[in-house]
Amino acid sequence: MSTLAIATAKEVFDLLHDDLRAIERELGSGSVSSVAAITDISSYLRDGGGKRIRPSLLLLSAKSQGYSSEGMIRLGAVVEMVHTATLVHDDIIDAADTRRGRPSANTTWGNAKCVLAGDWLYMQAFRSALEERNFRILDLLIGLTQQMVEGELLQMEKLGLAISEDDYNSLIYRKTACLFEVSMRLGSVLAGADDASEQAMGEYGRALGMAFQIVDDVLDLTASEEVLGKPVASDLREGKATLAVIHALENSTSAERDAIQTVLTDRNFGRVSHAEVLGTLQRHGSVDYAMDTAYQYAETARTALTRLPDSEYKRALMWVPDFVVAREK
Ligand code: IPE
Ligand code: IPE
Ligand code: MG
Ligand code: MG
Repeated sequence: MSTLAIATAKEVFDLLHDDLRAIERELGSGSVSSVAAITDISSYLRDGGGKRIRPSLLLLSAKSQGYSSEGMIRLGAVVEMVHTATLVHDDIIDAADTRRGRPSANTTWGNAKCVLAGDWLYMQAFRSALEERNFRILDLLIGLTQQMVEGELLQMEKLGLAISEDDYNSLIYRKTACLFEVSMRLGSVLAGADDASEQAMGEYGRALGMAFQIVDDVLDLTASEEVLGKPVASDLREGKATLAVIHALENSTSAERDAIQTVLTDRNFGRVSHAEVLGTLQRHGSVDYAMDTAYQYAETARTALTRLPDSEYKRALMWVPDFVVAREK
């Protein structure tokens, strides 16, 4: 059998099990402060779980390129901390009340404390990253953080508007795919890979991250809150037009378009129901269109691995895009 036959979830989990445990320990020791609110908020978020997809990517990137030392544990924790900080801030911005199946931190501690706890987490991530004594690593992380902030700001400017697919793509790159890209690049930097290899790993991360956010946005429209662990139909209620909705706006009748625009403008389902919007999306194949786009990104990600030597880590990387597009939460 080819070493590149599709891996299974259990196989990937077993492969990373020990390193992910080490990353959990690092996250635990890295988020202790003498100020109780910070320690409480960060341990609450950690206990809430989460898929740990970004540190897993960093590990697979480093290991598939022959690296296996302490730095990948440290930087794995760093990318998860950056992710956690963005979630704390994002739930404040979106006024979301549920995250990882539990009340979101802002609901429990209030916005003011959570803004500061998020800032602290960002800085803790940078403090850890600094221990690598590598400017390239800091450069990647600083650029990333600025992109993510710009992504959230751009999104705010577009609330309630029927944005173009180009706008949507540049938005989801900044808010989500950039962190996937940087996680893969950091693995390459640790491994001392050449520029072309880092570029290919970054391309994998970017395409995977685009697929991830497109699927996240489809799930927001089609999943249940029990499965997802966060509010559903929240994008429409927040005035965000995501890919399936953009497709429907461009392909539906003017009455259907007006109905969707009403929800985006009102930011509630008072005049037009969620079911009515879903009906329009189904009639025009808009959910399928979004999922097809995600499948194409998943394929682009796999193709970016062509030059990577065969290994069990490469097998795992080949599997991740399937996991991302098939996930239910
Ligand atoms: C949520 O990311 C934020 C998005 C980019 C959509 P994840 O779905 O990876 O969140 P957790 O860490 O598993 O909770
Ligand atoms: C993702 O944004 C959060 C960031 C990447 C900053 P969303 O607002 O779309 O994600 P959820 O739905 O809250 O997880
Ligand atoms: Mg949100
Ligand atoms: Mg969302």
